Amino acid sequence: MGSRRLGWLTAQDGFSPEKLLAADFTSAPVAGDVHEWLRVARADALFEVSSLNATTGQPAIAHIQAALEAGVHAISANKGPVMHAYRELTDLAASKGRRFLFESAVMDGVPIFSLFRDTLPAIEVRGFRGVLNSTTNVVLEGMEAGMTFEESVRQAQNLGVAESDPTDDIEGVDAAVKVIALANVLMQTGLKLDDVSRQGIRGITAEQLRQARSDGEAWKLVCSATRAEDGRVVASVAPQRLKLSDPLALVRGTSSVISFETDVFPELIITEQDPGLEATAYGLLADFLTAVRSS
Ligand SMILES: NC(=O)c1ccc[n+]([C@@H]2O[C@H](COP(=O)([O-])OP(=O)(O)OC[C@H]3O[C@@H](n4cnc5c(N)ncnc54)[C@H](OP(=O)(O)O)[C@@H]3O)[C@@H](O)[C@H]2O)c1
Repeated sequence: MGSRRLGWLTAQDGFSPEKLLAADFTSAPVAGDVHEWLRVARADALFEVSSLNATTGQPAIAHIQAALEAGVHAISANKGPVMHAYRELTDLAASKGRRFLFESAVMDGVPIFSLFRDTLPAIEVRGFRGVLNSTTNVVLEGMEAGMTFEESVRQAQNLGVAESDPTDDIEGVDAAVKVIALANVLMQTGLKLDDVSRQGIRGITAEQLRQARSDGEAWKLVCSATRAEDGRVVASVAPQRLKLSDPLALVRGTSSVISFETDVFPELIITEQDPGLEATAYGLLADFLTAVRSS
């Protein structure tokens, strides 16, 4: 295992659960880099869960590349490599007879990528709409309940939902990265951050939120992508006022929802209620089992 602070730690016989839980790595030898770590650890799979770098996808892409080149499966919860290098990493994995899988990158391990890859062969995804960012959902709800924007952000931080710097969530960057990961994989396109028309929630006022509620509607930060007539995929992230009969309007708190339009199913909706960390961990485990069963 490795991290910025700890370096690339190795353990010939694996790390005991007790030592992992106690974060006790005092006697573990440290490899110089990911290449040496892959050799010394004799890894069968690499789990890449470093922080997202939305601009470059690094160093996660380099870690995954190193693993695949060494004949090691690469499993990731990081959206960066999916957004920036999905096609290259998938082709590299195939050339090495290994897998690059990333179910936990969007909606915490809910089976979305595997649903289309394994269960719905040959289906055409024409577009999708979703509410995929918890922080903005929680902040809008706090404001609806009477808090100011700043108070609501602080509450989301105290609940552990928002980062200490919530800018990427508030301005729709995190949501845009999710749209790109979904569109690039499920709609075979190559969107970059600048291709997504993006508007965050900063401009929404408490008055607008209360007015919408009293009209039987709700504001949500909506992610969407659709294939235009010329074949291009048009993607956006923007606050929208939705009727409460719209399934996207019903998600509360840290829950999320996505509605796919396909050639077979006009509307296929997946909702995730109150995810915990175990949901993300499950997605990584499911990918690992898929990878080792296919090798
Ligand atoms: N948390 C979730 O429920 C969830 C759900 C879906 C997807 N994800 C994705 O999963 C990944 C991990 O999430 P998280 O919440 O654990 O993120 P996090 O709190 O940012 O932790 C990331 C870890 O990555 C390490 N790291 C950062 N930069 C590194 C670098 N340059 N080289 C080596 N290690 C580095 C950090 O090590 P140090 O501590 O040593 O700096 C830290 O241990 C992210 O990409 C996130 O978007 C998370």
